Amino acid sequence: MELRGNFTSRIGFILAAAGSAVGLGNIWRFPYLAGQNGGAAFLLIYLIFIFLLCFPVLVGEIAIGRSAGRDAYGSYSLLGGKRWGYLGIFGILAGIFILSFYNVVAGWAFGYFLEISFGNLLGEPDFGKFFGNYVNDISDNLWFSLGFMVITALIVSRGIQKGVEAANKIMMPALYTILILLILYSLTLPNAWAGVRFYLVPELNEINSQTIYDGLKQAFFSLSLGMGCLITYGSYVGKTQNIIKSAAIISVADAMVAFLAGFMIFPMVFSQNISPTEGPALVFIVLPDVFRDMGPLLGRIIGGSFFLLLCFAALTSTISLLEVPTTYVVDQLKFRRTRVVWFLALLIFILGLPTMFSQGMIPALNKLPFYLNRDWLSFVSDMCDISLTVGGCLMCIFIVRQWKIHNMDAELVNGNPGYMNSFMRKYLHVMITWVCPVLLGGLSVLIIDRYFGLGVFF
Ligand code: PHE
Repeated sequence: MELRGNFTSRIGFILAAAGSAVGLGNIWRFPYLAGQNGGAAFLLIYLIFIFLLCFPVLVGEIAIGRSAGRDAYGSYSLLGGKRWGYLGIFGILAGIFILSFYNVVAGWAFGYFLEISFGNLLGEPDFGKFFGNYVNDISDNLWFSLGFMVITALIVSRGIQKGVEAANKIMMPALYTILILLILYSLTLPNAWAGVRFYLVPELNEINSQTIYDGLKQAFFSLSLGMGCLITYGSYVGKTQNIIKSAAIISVADAMVAFLAGFMIFPMVFSQNISPTEGPALVFIVLPDVFRDMGPLLGRIIGGSFFLLLCFAALTSTISLLEVPTTYVVDQLKFRRTRVVWFLALLIFILGLPTMFSQGMIPALNKLPFYLNRDWLSFVSDMCDISLTVGGCLMCIFIVRQWKIHNMDAELVNGNPGYMNSFMRKYLHVMITWVCPVLLGGLSVLIIDRYFGLGVFF
């Protein structure tokens, strides 16, 4: 059997976990959700969820993973018996489905990066039309998302230290640097401060149930919670590391990128007098307009850097998404990592095909029947969102009822001798025993009810 290996250092783990967290969710989805939900009001809700509800779940997941030292299924079943192992399987499946559509969107970003860098994109007269054709051009889509999956698989197949950790150590600092440079530039644009105001001054009457649901699902997705990703990464963490401290840094690093992405995008959007409520098209249709107006050379540099940033962010997340089922198969079936990685990459790429076809190419996938009533991409991504909050809720129940919270404490003391007498311990107990499961469970039920229009509560 191959040795599992560990992250070599605290910073290696933190960068990898932050890399998983920081992704399309922060740079693509967060700004458009914020744009649709009143800007600052959404930011506020999102930050409250990250630090209040998500942080304890993050700590819990890492503790489970490090304690058991196995994949998501193996960890749950080792600590809680086979029945709880299904919770791990549920998470692994959610991860596989997330990667299936995530990789397609990452492929769009990759394609845009290449098109802008080679100077093709900015000559387009109408980006709305361009994007519509682009997502329907099967050959481009196939190549770009296949390319993205191959890069992901190449990195994951090299293992935790030489692949995952090494790639994150390069890409994460690069990502922050590009982001800061782009913000500095975007603040110099005309009318930039109107964008900053929209983003920073909350109109509290903008907060409604939709803001709360969107904030919750975004916070969970953004921190990669509820599907065993952090159990998997946690299983490669050494016993001397302070989990609480690492989790705090990971949460801040993730929230910071979402926050900064808004700082970069809203000034750009407002400088063009465009409405920030464009939705998913914001990054692919609105921003290219902004880049074109910068002139051919600057547009290519700034636009190219933006899409490179998006690709780096996506790649550090696809790596973690592929790692989850990979660790599962390697741990459970003891197959060679390289083979497992390529097999899973191919399988998930194929699972992503309906997403590719759902943007207009195949009408039945563009508008699913009955209650579903949306395209396949939105459907799968919504289902995954729901499964993350449900997964987070069940994880809390697992810790309290099965694993027992004193075992979590015993795990958290490693690397953090002062934990037993800390306020943090009391806080985590209250949150994981009561607040998180009740709120996550309750909100998940409301979201499902609203989503399928069941009308039980609305
Ligand atoms: N957190 C990633 C993002 O924000 C997405 C992701 C979800 C990655 C779940 C891994 C697991 O884009």
